Amino acid sequence: MAAALTECGVPLSGLSKHYLNTNSTSHTGPFSAIAELIDNTYDPDVNAEQIWIDKTQIKDMECLTFKDNGNGLSRKIMHQILSFGFSIEKGIQPIGIYGNGFTSGSMRLGKDVIILSKSKNDLCVGMLSQTYLKKIRAKHIAVPIISFNKQEADKYILLELFK
Ligand SMILES: Nc1ncnc2c1ncn2[C@@H]1O[C@H](COP(=O)(O)OP(=O)(O)OP(=O)(O)O)[C@@H](O)[C@H]1O
Ligand SMILES: [Mg+2]
Repeated sequence: MAAALTECGVPLSGLSKHYLNTNSTSHTGPFSAIAELIDNTYDPDVNAEQIWIDKTQIKDMECLTFKDNGNGLSRKIMHQILSFGFSIEKGIQPIGIYGNGFTSGSMRLGKDVIILSKSKNDLCVGMLSQTYLKKIRAKHIAVPIISFNKQEADKYILLELFK
């Protein structure tokens, strides 16, 4: 593996795609993983009043969905939630402090997660997918993110193509 370097030429620590699964094993069962996703919605920065948890079928796959009516995410926070160990300053009495709950919790419950978010200024989609990383034979953890500024959103046409 060719190491990425800091500005001073010091090798940066790497993160293998297998770490997604490794990290999720801190949850011995699914319930603590679900609790991480619920905790996030009650954190002061998200401040949701309600959360809806459901099970649905997409093609032949069973999916869990978590929906909340909190503040949503900016592109920057979307990148943070899909990273490891980055927690934002949340003000008083935060539940989450380690920046690891979403990645460990979601990867304990499934191989792939898609986040759809609408916040004050942004519309954002992000993905953490072991299936995708395997398919592209990734050595590192790539996290595709698409975001639109809400004011500019009507300049784009969204095409939905179904086979
Ligand atoms: N449902 C959500 N809506 C909006 N932002 C969220 C949501 N869930 C998580 N986030 C944001 O993503 C960040 C990362 O979440 P994550 O659970 O990984 O870490 P954390 O909550 O900061 O710390 P901990 O690992 O202790 O839970 C949070 O700091 C929060 O800003
Ligand atoms: Mg958390």
